[in-house]
Amino acid sequence: MGAMAERIVLAFLLAAASVLSASAVDTKLTLHNLCPFPVYPLVTPNRGLPAISDNTHSLDANGRGLVSITFPPTTWSGRVVARTGCTSPADCDTGLAAPETVVQLVVHSTDAGPGQDLATYSVSLAEGFNIGVVVSPQSIGGGQCPALGCPVNLNDDCPADQRVVGKDGGVVACKGDQGYFKQRCPLTRVNGTDHEPVPQNCLAPGELKVVFCQTAM
Ligand SMILES: *[C@@H]1O[C@H](CO)[C@@H](O)[C@H](O)[C@H]1NC(C)=O
Repeated sequence: MGAMAERIVLAFLLAAASVLSASAVDTKLTLHNLCPFPVYPLVTPNRGLPAISDNTHSLDANGRGLVSITFPPTTWSGRVVARTGCTSPADCDTGLAAPETVVQLVVHSTDAGPGQDLATYSVSLAEGFNIGVVVSPQSIGGGQCPALGCPVNLNDDCPADQRVVGKDGGVVACKGDQGYFKQRCPLTRVNGTDHEPVPQNCLAPGELKVVFCQTAM
């Protein structure tokens, strides 16, 4: 083989190795509960993708409950909601239907280009609000990975006609409205076309941290 051919082969091997290493970064989903009550996280894959949690466990209150799950190595997307006021995983005041705060996640996507291990994430209030949630990527491989979400309990000032009351008589969720949500929590999406006013292009994060009832960004 001539020197030129060797250089071409080497360049090809290096390019192939960089594609493999980009998608070989493990990404974890960490769920941490800072709420003053227990939360049952519900992690639901998008259609056709594998479940990554059996969704039967509660996270203890006040920061004691923390769980970490490794995402599959290939493209995965899905959502995380928090069930609250539960007497069992299937009997809860919130988190089994709207109104609920919805975290949307995509990991190991190639939408940013071949060899780019892209993660996208957002907190949606389009289906209403039950508890504040903040997503913050950790151990970032590159790009722009802003913390996003809602560090406020929107139930407190929820318009009277939008309130959902739980078993114990407290306000446990808020149906709307979009203007109130967006004003108090600008780093969320309040409808299908809304976006956060910050750039996001998050490459190869080692961890997506989802914190329930985080009170600062
Ligand atoms: C979606 O929300 C944004 C931000 O509040 C607002 O500007 C926009 O008009 C809303 N769009 C629809 C279709 O409701």
